[in-house]
Amino acid sequence: MTDAALSADQQRPAEPAVLDDVPGWFWDQDRHLFDWFLGRQEKAGRSGDLMEMGAYLGRSAIVIGSHLQPGEAFTVCDLFDSDAPDDENAAEMDMSYRRTLTRTAFETNYLAFNERLPEIVQAPTSTLGGGRVAPGAFRFIHIDASHLYEHVAEDIQVARTALASDGVVVLDDYRSAHTPGVAAATWEAVFNHGLRPIVLTDSKFYGTWGDPEPAQLDLLARRGTLPHCDISSESVDGHRLVRISGSDAGADPFRVSRHHARLAAEAEHRAAEEVAEEAFRAAERDRETADRDLADRRARAAERRRPTNVAKRAVGDLLPPVVTSAIRRARRG
Ligand SMILES: C[S@@+](CC[C@H](N)C(=O)[O-])C[C@H]1O[C@@H](n2cnc3c(N)ncnc32)[C@H](O)[C@@H]1O
Repeated sequence: MTDAALSADQQRPAEPAVLDDVPGWFWDQDRHLFDWFLGRQEKAGRSGDLMEMGAYLGRSAIVIGSHLQPGEAFTVCDLFDSDAPDDENAAEMDMSYRRTLTRTAFETNYLAFNERLPEIVQAPTSTLGGGRVAPGAFRFIHIDASHLYEHVAEDIQVARTALASDGVVVLDDYRSAHTPGVAAATWEAVFNHGLRPIVLTDSKFYGTWGDPEPAQLDLLARRGTLPHCDISSESVDGHRLVRISGSDAGADPFRVSRHHARLAAEAEHRAAEEVAEEAFRAAERDRETADRDLADRRARAAERRRPTNVAKRAVGDLLPPVVTSAIRRARRG
């Protein structure tokens, strides 16, 4: 079937009711930490732009965008349905995103939770370099686009220029077995380009080109206050860093989407319809069984009323049992 053959309803991306309805790779532990970093900046009266490189269907962008303050801009850069700039990146896109990713689906998801779309750059993240983003204007940048070394190393340099001195950069998949390029680019930035680790989670590296200590002390002060979370501190070649590990359990859920009430009512309506349909089908089955029983009873009664059977019964009733069995024996013989 071609797209043209699909109805408008079938072509429309599904609207999410809750953040978990948006596919992606953004888990509660990091959602909680994004909220914490962004909220901490806001409480301190900090203002600055926000950026995400690699948004996929919007799962993390929705959360970042929910922190946008008046006067700030949120830039999202992703290829969405466009071609990748090189073969390796194209292979990465084909393997992980092409079948599911469209810009329309991203926009539908994003607008389900936020009032306005971010500024969308539908292009390779490499186009953000060369003066396209204002130097020092950003307070928070999430790097989660291509996971190939050359791309991530370039994205880190864009972030370095774009971030304000106390801005926070987050790198996804800095330690996954299938993304050695991110690990290489991340630690290269730490050892050679002045990036300072703040905190590491199972999936993400949080760092700054400013002073990591105030955020680290605030995080360490939360030790023992987060259920299911272990917060510890250690040093890597003189770089102090905080580690957060543990389960996602206990994190407050993200607020529901603007479609939640309608989708819940529709789901309730569908469930009620299914119950009514099942009750109707059960009544039908009962009626069919009753009809079959009645037909069987009638057939048996009709059988009993057949003249030969009536005669047999009469003979059986009238002749003495000895004669009846003698007749039966004679018939068998
Ligand atoms: C891992 S996904 C992003 C996941 C998303 N942040 C989330 O939390 O669900 C990576 C995204 O990067 C995009 N991407 C891959 N290579 C890119 C490139 N060179 N420039 C811009 N975007 C790219 C893909 O289209 C995909 O949407």
